[in-house]
Amino acid sequence: MAAEPLVDVLLNCPTGALSFTRKDGGRAEAAPPVNQVRVRENGPYAFHAPLTVAGEDTGFRATLCRCGASRHKPFCDGSHKDIGFAATGEPESRDSVPLGTRAGPLEIAPQPNGPLVVHGPLEIVSGTGRTINRVVDARLCRCGHSESKPFCDGSHARVGFVAP
Ligand code: FES
Repeated sequence: MAAEPLVDVLLNCPTGALSFTRKDGGRAEAAPPVNQVRVRENGPYAFHAPLTVAGEDTGFRATLCRCGASRHKPFCDGSHKDIGFAATGEPESRDSVPLGTRAGPLEIAPQPNGPLVVHGPLEIVSGTGRTINRVVDARLCRCGHSESKPFCDGSHARVGFVAP
C-alpha cells in the first residue's frame, strides 16, 4: 500500500492506538486546526487536540471513558458495551461564542472520584458534528450518571463513583 493512503487511515484512528513514524520525510501527524471532543452515542469522548492527560503527553488523539466502567481509566476500554451504557451523542447545544483561539495545548486532569477537568480551547461537538459548546474550562462527566451530560452535575458524589 502506498504511504499516503495508509497515513489517512491511521489518522482516522480516534484512540491514537494507531500511530506512525515517517522515515521517508513525508507528511507527519500535525495538531488539528481546531481542538475538538466528539461525544459518542452510548460511548466515550473522542478528543482531537495536542493532549496532556493526567500530566502525560498523549499525542493528538485519545478516547476517554464517560460511562464510568473502564478498567483502564481515564481511557476507554470498550466497557460501555458490556454495561449497556446509554447516553445520547446528541446533547442539546448551549449558547456559546466563537473562541479567540481554537487550537493549542489541551490539558485534561481526571479528578479523583470525579470528572475530567479540561483546560484549554475546546469545541465540544455531537456525534454528528454539531457544536454543543465552546469552552476554555470545563468539567466533563466520566461517572456516567450526570443528568446534564456531557457536563458534570455533581452526581458522581451521590453514586459513590470511584476512580483514580
Ligand atoms: S463525573 Fe459524572 S456527574 Fe460528575
